[in-house]
Amino acid sequence: TQKVIAIDGPSASGKGTVAARVAAALGFDYLDSGALYRLTALYAQKQHVEWTDAAGVAALAENLPVRFDGGAVLLDGEDVSADIRSEAIGMGASAVAQLPEVRAALLQRQRDFLTDKGLVADGRDIGSVIFPQAQLKIFLTASARVRAERRAKQIGLPCEGVAFDRILADIEARDEADRRRAVAPLQQLPDAELLDTTDLGIEETVKKVLDWYHK
Ligand code: CDP
Repeated sequence: TQKVIAIDGPSASGKGTVAARVAAALGFDYLDSGALYRLTALYAQKQHVEWTDAAGVAALAENLPVRFDGGAVLLDGEDVSADIRSEAIGMGASAVAQLPEVRAALLQRQRDFLTDKGLVADGRDIGSVIFPQAQLKIFLTASARVRAERRAKQIGLPCEGVAFDRILADIEARDEADRRRAVAPLQQLPDAELLDTTDLGIEETVKKVLDWYHK
């Protein structure tokens, strides 16, 4: 059977970093499902389709001309790796992710990433909807403040002041939007290991996931 590790959790919980490192340690592929939602939001913006237009955005998601080339993400041949990381596109991703039509359009696309190599996938519904058969499911979390601090450090901002308050507010808004959505991750993952990283570093977190996997 094909091996899958599902890592779900809220905005800026460190899923991406942890998932990529676990994948590297095991020689598995890595799927950043959030990138597909971000790409969909960016593509809609470029094609002048409103983020609220469910049918229009879903049609774009279905035919997303995307290629993952090493670390780079190419949309229609153009390197958009940096563009999809902006806070505006993050909000757009969160908006289009609330449309069931868009989630359906991206479902098979995500499943196609699984090969005999094995896969570590991170997102909001990986263990519940995309790969319910995953051998290991993790729900990664941390307090909103700690997540905001990590994001601030990532982009070289101090952990106080107006800019920091904006990051914290953005994370809380994204949590709220994700909570309101039909796919409420944690409740749908009775078989997941809950991993609170408020007081854990990356190395310890990765080690914990690998220990669970090898058990
Ligand atoms: O770092 P953050 O978690 O905010 O970003 P991300 O993982 O790149 O995901 C961007 C947005 O896409 C999230 O805020 C979610 O609303 C949405 N998303 C989702 O609904 N389902 C997924 N499997 C992945 C992302």
